[in-house]
Amino acid sequence: MTNVLLSTDSTDLQTRVHEAAGGSCIAVPSHPLPSAPAQLLAQVQHASLPDVLVLDATRAPHDALALAARFDRELPGTGLVLIGDPAALSIAAMRVGVRDVLPADVDVESLRTALLRVGHAVRSRRAQPDEAAVVATPLSAPGRVLTVLSPKGGAGKTTMATNLAVGLAESAPGAVVLVDLDVQFGDVATALNLEAEYALDDVLQEHVLRDPIALKTRLTQHPSGLLVVCAPESPAAADAVTPEQVSALLSSLTAQFRYVVVDTAAGLEPRTLAALDHTTDPVLLTTFDVAGARGLGKEIATLRELGMLTNARQVLLNFADPKAGLSVSDVEATIRAKVDLTIPISRSVTASLNTGVPILFQRPKDPVAKQMRKLVTFYAETGARRAYGRHRAAA
Ligand SMILES: Nc1ncnc2c1ncn2[C@@H]1O[C@H](COP(=O)(O)OP(=O)(O)O)[C@@H](O)[C@H]1O
Ligand SMILES: [Mg+2]
Repeated sequence: MTNVLLSTDSTDLQTRVHEAAGGSCIAVPSHPLPSAPAQLLAQVQHASLPDVLVLDATRAPHDALALAARFDRELPGTGLVLIGDPAALSIAAMRVGVRDVLPADVDVESLRTALLRVGHAVRSRRAQPDEAAVVATPLSAPGRVLTVLSPKGGAGKTTMATNLAVGLAESAPGAVVLVDLDVQFGDVATALNLEAEYALDDVLQEHVLRDPIALKTRLTQHPSGLLVVCAPESPAAADAVTPEQVSALLSSLTAQFRYVVVDTAAGLEPRTLAALDHTTDPVLLTTFDVAGARGLGKEIATLRELGMLTNARQVLLNFADPKAGLSVSDVEATIRAKVDLTIPISRSVTASLNTGVPILFQRPKDPVAKQMRKLVTFYAETGARRAYGRHRAAA
Protein backbone atom coordinates (compact mmCIF):
# COMPACT_ATOMS: atom_id res chain seq x y z
CA MET A 1 0.00 0.00 0.00
CA THR A 2 1.22 3.49 -0.82
CA ASN A 3 1.34 5.63 2.28
CA VAL A 4 0.53 9.23 1.47
CA LEU A 5 1.07 12.52 3.26
CA LEU A 6 -1.07 15.36 1.96
CA SER A 7 -0.50 19.04 2.68
CA THR A 8 -3.62 21.05 1.82
CA ASP A 9 -6.27 23.35 3.22
CA SER A 10 -8.93 22.04 0.86
CA THR A 11 -11.28 19.53 2.46
CA ASP A 12 -12.51 18.62 -0.99
CA LEU A 13 -9.01 17.66 -2.20
CA GLN A 14 -8.46 15.85 1.09
CA THR A 15 -11.54 13.68 0.48
CA ARG A 16 -10.42 12.78 -3.04
CA VAL A 17 -6.81 11.96 -2.06
CA HIS A 18 -8.06 9.94 0.90
CA GLU A 19 -10.26 7.88 -1.37
CA ALA A 20 -7.57 7.50 -4.02
CA ALA A 21 -5.04 6.31 -1.40
CA GLY A 22 -7.47 3.72 -0.05
CA GLY A 23 -7.50 5.41 3.35
CA SER A 24 -3.72 5.36 3.90
CA CYS A 25 -3.41 9.13 3.81
CA ILE A 26 -2.64 11.66 6.52
CA ALA A 27 -3.49 15.30 5.84
CA VAL A 28 -1.90 18.41 7.35
CA PRO A 29 -2.77 22.04 6.63
CA SER A 30 -0.77 23.77 3.90
CA HIS A 31 -0.98 27.20 5.40
CA PRO A 32 1.46 28.18 6.71
CA LEU A 33 3.67 25.87 4.71
CA PRO A 34 6.81 24.90 6.67
CA SER A 35 10.12 25.55 4.97
CA ALA A 36 11.84 22.35 6.15
CA PRO A 37 10.79 18.71 5.59
CA ALA A 38 11.42 17.94 9.26
CA GLN A 39 8.89 20.59 10.33
CA LEU A 40 6.24 19.22 8.03
CA LEU A 41 6.85 15.66 9.17
CA ALA A 42 6.87 16.66 12.84
CA GLN A 43 3.23 17.72 12.45
CA VAL A 44 2.17 14.14 11.84
CA GLN A 45 4.41 12.45 14.40
CA HIS A 46 4.68 9.73 11.84
CA ALA A 47 6.99 6.84 12.57
CA SER A 48 7.74 5.96 8.99
CA LEU A 49 8.42 8.32 6.12
CA PRO A 50 5.59 8.67 3.57
CA ASP A 51 6.02 6.98 0.19
CA VAL A 52 4.37 9.95 -1.50
CA LEU A 53 3.99 13.56 -0.43
CA VAL A 54 1.18 15.46 -2.16
CA LEU A 55 1.72 19.21 -1.83
CA ASP A 56 -1.11 21.57 -2.64
CA ALA A 57 0.72 24.32 -4.55
CA THR A 58 -2.36 26.25 -5.64
CA ARG A 59 -1.99 28.96 -3.01
CA ALA A 60 1.79 29.42 -2.65
CA PRO A 61 3.45 27.71 -5.65
CA HIS A 62 6.93 29.14 -4.96
CA ASP A 63 6.94 27.99 -1.34
CA ALA A 64 5.69 24.56 -2.40
CA LEU A 65 8.45 24.25 -5.02
CA ALA A 66 11.08 25.31 -2.46
CA LEU A 67 9.82 22.70 0.01
CA ALA A 68 9.69 20.06 -2.74
CA ALA A 69 13.33 20.84 -3.60
CA ARG A 70 14.35 20.27 0.01
CA PHE A 71 12.46 16.98 0.15
CA ASP A 72 14.18 15.85 -3.02
CA ARG A 73 17.60 16.68 -1.55
CA GLU A 74 17.09 15.54 2.02
CA LEU A 75 14.57 12.69 1.78
CA PRO A 76 14.89 11.26 -1.72
CA GLY A 77 12.97 8.16 -0.58
CA THR A 78 9.70 10.14 -0.70
CA GLY A 79 8.02 10.71 -4.09
CA LEU A 80 6.60 14.18 -4.69
CA VAL A 81 3.34 15.17 -6.37
CA LEU A 82 2.20 18.79 -6.71
CA ILE A 83 -1.37 19.99 -7.05
CA GLY A 84 -1.52 23.13 -9.19
CA ASP A 85 -1.57 24.39 -12.74
CA PRO A 86 0.49 21.86 -14.77
CA ALA A 87 1.11 24.38 -17.58
CA ALA A 88 2.65 26.90 -15.20
CA LEU A 89 4.43 24.51 -12.82
CA SER A 90 5.59 21.44 -14.72
CA ILE A 91 9.05 22.59 -15.84
CA ALA A 92 10.01 24.15 -12.51
CA ALA A 93 8.57 21.11 -10.72
CA MET A 94 10.56 18.66 -12.83
CA ARG A 95 13.77 20.57 -12.04
CA VAL A 96 13.26 20.06 -8.30
CA GLY A 97 12.50 16.34 -8.60
CA VAL A 98 8.67 16.41 -8.52
CA ARG A 99 7.26 13.30 -10.23
CA ASP A 100 3.85 14.64 -11.23
CA VAL A 101 1.80 17.86 -11.31
CA LEU A 102 -1.96 17.39 -11.19
CA PRO A 103 -4.66 20.06 -11.62
CA ALA A 104 -6.70 21.13 -8.58
CA ASP A 105 -9.84 19.51 -9.98
CA VAL A 106 -8.15 16.15 -10.64
CA ASP A 107 -10.56 13.20 -10.29
CA VAL A 108 -10.14 10.30 -7.89
CA GLU A 109 -9.23 7.81 -10.63
CA SER A 110 -6.36 9.94 -12.01
CA LEU A 111 -5.15 10.55 -8.47
CA ARG A 112 -5.22 6.83 -7.73
CA THR A 113 -3.16 6.05 -10.85
CA ALA A 114 -0.62 8.78 -10.04
CA LEU A 115 -0.24 7.69 -6.40
CA LEU A 116 0.22 4.05 -7.37
CA ARG A 117 2.78 4.90 -10.02
CA VAL A 118 4.82 7.26 -7.84
CA GLY A 119 4.55 4.95 -4.81
CA HIS A 120 5.74 2.02 -6.87
CA ALA A 121 8.62 4.02 -8.34
CA VAL A 122 9.96 5.18 -4.97
CA ARG A 123 9.63 1.76 -3.38
CA SER A 124 11.48 0.02 -6.16
CA ARG A 125 14.13 2.73 -6.11
CA ARG A 126 14.62 2.20 -2.37
CA ALA A 127 15.12 -1.50 -3.04
CA GLN A 128 17.82 -0.87 -5.68
CA PRO A 129 21.23 -2.08 -4.54
CA ASP A 130 22.89 1.03 -6.02
CA GLU A 131 20.91 3.29 -3.73
CA ALA A 132 21.81 1.17 -0.71
CA ALA A 133 25.43 1.30 -1.80
CA VAL A 134 25.34 5.08 -1.97
CA VAL A 135 23.94 5.28 1.55
CA ALA A 136 26.50 2.78 2.79
CA THR A 137 29.47 4.55 1.23
CA PRO A 138 32.25 4.77 3.81
CA LEU A 139 33.24 8.24 5.00
CA SER A 140 36.70 9.53 4.28
CA ALA A 141 37.20 10.28 8.00
CA PRO A 142 35.46 8.43 10.84
CA GLY A 143 32.34 10.11 12.24
CA ARG A 144 32.22 11.72 15.65
CA VAL A 145 30.77 9.88 18.60
CA LEU A 146 28.79 12.02 21.03
CA THR A 147 28.03 10.01 24.18
CA VAL A 148 25.59 11.38 26.77
CA LEU A 149 26.51 10.34 30.31
CA SER A 150 25.37 10.93 33.86
CA PRO A 151 25.96 9.03 37.09
CA LYS A 152 22.24 8.99 37.84
CA GLY A 153 19.02 8.07 36.10
CA GLY A 154 16.47 10.80 35.51
CA ALA A 155 19.12 13.45 34.82
CA GLY A 156 17.84 14.09 31.30
CA LYS A 157 20.21 11.93 29.20
CA THR A 158 17.50 10.66 26.89
CA THR A 159 16.03 14.14 26.54
CA MET A 160 19.44 15.55 25.57
CA ALA A 161 20.46 12.65 23.33
CA THR A 162 17.21 12.63 21.33
CA ASN A 163 17.07 16.41 20.84
CA LEU A 164 20.75 16.62 19.99
CA ALA A 165 20.38 13.81 17.44
CA VAL A 166 17.26 15.15 15.68
CA GLY A 167 18.76 18.66 15.70
CA LEU A 168 21.91 17.42 13.96
CA ALA A 169 19.87 15.26 11.57
CA GLU A 170 17.80 18.27 10.56
CA SER A 171 20.86 19.82 8.91
CA ALA A 172 22.45 16.52 7.89
CA PRO A 173 19.61 14.06 7.16
CA GLY A 174 20.82 10.50 6.73
CA ALA A 175 24.21 11.34 8.28
CA VAL A 176 23.26 10.98 11.95
CA VAL A 177 22.52 7.82 13.90
CA LEU A 178 21.33 7.59 17.51
CA VAL A 179 22.11 4.44 19.50
CA ASP A 180 20.10 3.59 22.63
CA LEU A 181 22.69 1.94 24.85
CA ASP A 182 20.45 2.00 27.90
CA VAL A 183 19.98 -1.64 27.00
CA GLN A 184 17.53 -2.56 29.74
CA PHE A 185 15.37 0.50 30.19
CA GLY A 186 16.08 2.43 27.02
CA ASP A 187 13.26 4.76 26.06
CA VAL A 188 14.57 6.47 22.94
CA ALA A 189 11.85 4.74 20.88
CA THR A 190 9.17 6.21 23.17
CA ALA A 191 10.79 9.64 23.21
CA LEU A 192 10.78 9.69 19.39
CA ASN A 193 7.50 7.83 18.89
CA LEU A 194 9.17 5.08 16.90
CA GLU A 195 8.01 1.54 16.25
CA ALA A 196 11.22 -0.33 15.65
CA GLU A 197 11.17 -3.32 13.37
CA TYR A 198 14.74 -4.13 14.38
CA ALA A 199 16.45 -3.28 17.67
CA LEU A 200 19.97 -3.33 19.12
CA ASP A 201 20.08 -7.13 19.44
CA ASP A 202 19.26 -7.48 15.72
CA VAL A 203 22.02 -5.16 14.54
CA LEU A 204 24.60 -6.81 16.80
CA GLN A 205 24.52 -10.10 14.93
CA GLU A 206 27.91 -10.82 13.47
CA HIS A 207 26.86 -10.99 9.82
CA VAL A 208 25.03 -7.66 10.17
CA LEU A 209 28.01 -5.93 11.79
CA ARG A 210 30.22 -7.09 8.94
CA ASP A 211 27.83 -5.87 6.22
CA PRO A 212 27.22 -2.08 6.08
CA ILE A 213 24.17 -2.48 3.85
CA ALA A 214 22.54 -5.07 6.11
CA LEU A 215 23.26 -2.79 9.06
CA LYS A 216 21.75 0.22 7.30
CA THR A 217 18.54 -1.63 6.51
CA ARG A 218 18.10 -2.52 10.20
CA LEU A 219 18.09 1.08 11.40
CA THR A 220 14.80 2.76 12.24
CA GLN A 221 13.98 6.00 10.41
CA HIS A 222 12.73 9.08 12.21
CA PRO A 223 10.90 11.73 10.15
CA SER A 224 13.70 14.23 10.85
CA GLY A 225 16.08 12.13 8.73
CA LEU A 226 17.68 10.63 11.86
CA LEU A 227 18.42 6.89 11.95
CA VAL A 228 18.00 5.06 15.23
CA VAL A 229 19.14 1.84 16.89
CA CYS A 230 16.48 1.26 19.55
CA ALA A 231 17.06 -0.72 22.75
CA PRO A 232 16.07 -4.42 22.73
CA GLU A 233 12.49 -5.31 23.61
CA SER A 234 13.32 -8.08 26.03
CA PRO A 235 15.55 -7.75 29.13
CA ALA A 236 17.08 -11.15 28.32
CA ALA A 237 18.24 -9.93 24.92
CA ALA A 238 19.53 -6.78 26.59
CA ASP A 239 21.55 -8.80 29.07
CA ALA A 240 23.33 -10.61 26.28
CA VAL A 241 24.76 -7.41 24.76
CA THR A 242 28.51 -7.44 25.34
CA PRO A 243 30.97 -4.51 25.43
CA GLU A 244 32.81 -6.12 22.49
CA GLN A 245 29.64 -6.02 20.40
CA VAL A 246 29.07 -2.38 21.31
CA SER A 247 32.59 -1.62 20.23
CA ALA A 248 32.13 -3.41 16.88
CA LEU A 249 28.84 -1.60 16.26
CA LEU A 250 30.36 1.82 16.91
CA SER A 251 33.32 1.05 14.63
CA SER A 252 30.92 0.15 11.85
CA LEU A 253 28.66 3.16 12.40
CA THR A 254 31.50 5.69 12.53
CA ALA A 255 32.66 4.40 9.15
CA GLN A 256 29.30 5.38 7.65
CA PHE A 257 27.81 8.24 9.66
CA ARG A 258 29.09 11.71 10.33
CA TYR A 259 27.59 11.74 13.82
CA VAL A 260 26.86 8.83 16.14
CA VAL A 261 24.94 10.00 19.22
CA VAL A 262 24.88 7.48 22.09
CA ASP A 263 22.32 7.51 24.91
CA THR A 264 23.48 5.51 27.93
CA ALA A 265 22.27 3.91 31.15
CA ALA A 266 23.15 5.67 34.42
CA GLY A 267 26.77 5.38 35.54
CA LEU A 268 29.78 3.77 33.92
CA GLU A 269 28.76 0.18 33.21
CA PRO A 270 30.99 -1.93 30.91
CA ARG A 271 28.96 -1.22 27.75
CA THR A 272 29.18 2.52 28.41
CA LEU A 273 32.94 2.19 28.92
CA ALA A 274 33.14 0.39 25.56
CA ALA A 275 31.26 3.30 23.97
CA LEU A 276 33.59 5.77 25.69
CA ASP A 277 36.52 4.12 24.02
CA HIS A 278 35.08 5.33 20.69
CA THR A 279 33.78 8.65 22.01
CA THR A 280 35.20 11.84 20.57
CA ASP A 281 32.80 14.15 22.42
CA PRO A 282 31.50 13.15 25.87
CA VAL A 283 28.37 15.04 26.94
CA LEU A 284 28.28 14.99 30.75
CA LEU A 285 25.09 15.73 32.56
CA THR A 286 24.36 16.66 36.15
CA THR A 287 21.17 17.58 37.95
CA PHE A 288 21.12 20.84 39.91
CA ASP A 289 21.60 19.44 43.41
CA VAL A 290 24.51 18.60 45.67
CA ALA A 291 24.13 14.82 45.35
CA GLY A 292 23.94 14.99 41.54
CA ALA A 293 26.97 17.27 41.31
CA ARG A 294 28.99 15.03 43.66
CA GLY A 295 28.10 12.03 41.52
CA LEU A 296 29.25 13.77 38.37
CA GLY A 297 32.40 14.95 40.17
CA LYS A 298 33.27 11.29 40.87
CA GLU A 299 32.44 10.27 37.32
CA ILE A 300 34.65 13.02 35.88
CA ALA A 301 37.49 12.01 38.20
CA THR A 302 37.17 8.37 37.08
CA LEU A 303 37.14 9.32 33.42
CA ARG A 304 40.20 11.49 33.95
CA GLU A 305 42.05 8.60 35.59
CA LEU A 306 41.14 6.33 32.73
CA GLY A 307 42.31 8.93 30.23
CA MET A 308 38.84 8.90 28.70
CA LEU A 309 37.97 12.54 29.23
CA THR A 310 38.75 14.36 26.01
CA ASN A 311 39.01 18.13 25.92
CA ALA A 312 35.98 18.08 23.65
CA ARG A 313 33.64 17.28 26.55
CA GLN A 314 30.60 19.43 27.24
CA VAL A 315 29.23 19.66 30.77
CA LEU A 316 25.50 20.33 31.00
CA LEU A 317 23.67 21.34 34.12
CA ASN A 318 20.04 20.26 33.84
CA PHE A 319 17.02 21.24 35.97
CA ALA A 320 18.64 24.61 36.76
CA ASP A 321 16.48 26.46 39.26
CA PRO A 322 17.30 29.86 40.79
CA LYS A 323 15.45 28.81 43.95
CA ALA A 324 17.45 25.63 44.53
CA GLY A 325 19.78 27.29 47.08
CA LEU A 326 22.78 26.41 44.91
CA SER A 327 24.75 28.37 42.32
CA VAL A 328 26.40 27.28 39.08
CA SER A 329 29.79 28.07 40.62
CA ASP A 330 28.97 25.76 43.57
CA VAL A 331 28.38 22.97 41.05
CA GLU A 332 31.58 23.84 39.17
CA ALA A 333 33.55 23.71 42.42
CA THR A 334 32.09 20.30 43.25
CA ILE A 335 32.69 18.73 39.85
CA ARG A 336 36.03 20.55 39.41
CA ALA A 337 35.11 21.43 35.85
CA LYS A 338 33.40 24.24 33.99
CA VAL A 339 29.68 24.06 33.24
CA ASP A 340 29.24 24.73 29.51
CA LEU A 341 25.47 24.91 29.29
CA THR A 342 22.74 25.46 31.86
CA ILE A 343 19.32 24.01 31.09
CA PRO A 344 16.33 25.28 33.05
CA ILE A 345 13.36 23.27 34.29
CA SER A 346 10.41 23.29 31.92
CA ARG A 347 7.17 21.36 32.06
CA SER A 348 7.19 21.18 28.26
CA VAL A 349 10.03 18.64 28.47
CA THR A 350 7.84 15.92 29.96
CA ALA A 351 4.97 16.81 27.60
CA SER A 352 7.35 16.41 24.68
CA LEU A 353 8.68 13.05 25.95
CA ASN A 354 5.12 11.82 26.47
CA THR A 355 3.97 12.77 22.98
CA GLY A 356 7.14 11.52 21.29
CA VAL A 357 7.95 14.82 19.58
CA PRO A 358 11.34 16.33 20.54
CA ILE A 359 10.98 19.70 22.28
CA LEU A 360 13.27 21.19 19.61
CA PHE A 361 10.39 20.68 17.14
CA GLN A 362 7.39 20.80 19.46
CA ARG A 363 8.26 24.03 21.28
CA PRO A 364 11.24 25.67 19.58
CA LYS A 365 10.80 28.83 21.67
CA ASP A 366 10.81 27.03 25.02
CA PRO A 367 13.92 27.97 27.08
CA VAL A 368 15.00 24.30 27.13
CA ALA A 369 14.67 24.03 23.34
CA LYS A 370 16.76 27.18 22.95
CA GLN A 371 19.58 25.69 25.03
CA MET A 372 19.31 22.44 23.06
CA ARG A 373 19.61 24.42 19.85
CA LYS A 374 22.84 25.99 21.17
CA LEU A 375 24.25 22.53 21.80
CA VAL A 376 23.28 21.37 18.30
CA THR A 377 24.90 24.47 16.78
CA PHE A 378 28.03 23.90 18.85
CA TYR A 379 28.50 20.39 17.43
CA ALA A 380 27.45 21.33 13.91
CA GLU A 381 29.95 24.20 13.87
CA THR A 382 32.82 22.29 15.43
CA GLY A 383 32.10 19.47 12.96
CA ALA A 384 34.44 20.95 10.41
CA ARG A 385 37.40 21.48 12.71
CA ARG A 386 38.09 18.18 14.37
CA ALA A 387 40.89 19.57 16.47
CA TYR A 388 40.55 17.02 19.22
CA GLY A 389 40.33 13.89 17.13
CA ARG A 390 39.49 10.53 18.60
CA HIS A 391 42.69 10.17 20.61
CA ARG A 392 42.31 10.21 24.34
CA ALA A 393 43.49 13.48 25.85
CA ALA A 394 43.71 13.95 29.58
CA ALA A 395 41.83 17.07 30.60
N1 LIG B 1 14.97 20.47 31.91
C1 LIG B 1 13.95 19.70 32.27
N2 LIG B 1 12.82 20.24 32.79
C2 LIG B 1 11.81 19.46 33.19
N3 LIG B 1 11.77 18.12 33.11
C3 LIG B 1 12.87 17.52 32.60
C4 LIG B 1 14.01 18.27 32.16
N4 LIG B 1 14.93 17.37 31.70
C5 LIG B 1 14.40 16.16 31.84
N5 LIG B 1 13.15 16.24 32.38
C6 LIG B 1 12.26 15.11 32.73
O1 LIG B 1 12.94 14.25 33.61
C7 LIG B 1 12.64 12.90 33.35
C8 LIG B 1 13.90 12.11 33.09
O2 LIG B 1 14.49 12.55 31.87
P1 LIG B 1 15.26 11.54 30.92
O3 LIG B 1 15.73 12.32 29.76
O4 LIG B 1 14.45 10.33 30.66
O5 LIG B 1 16.48 11.18 31.89
P2 LIG B 1 17.52 9.95 31.83
O6 LIG B 1 17.57 9.46 30.43
O7 LIG B 1 18.81 10.55 32.31
O8 LIG B 1 17.01 8.92 32.79
C9 LIG B 1 11.69 12.89 32.18
O9 LIG B 1 10.38 12.77 32.62
C10 LIG B 1 11.90 14.26 31.53
O10 LIG B 1 10.74 14.72 30.92
MG1 LIG C 1 17.26 7.54 29.64
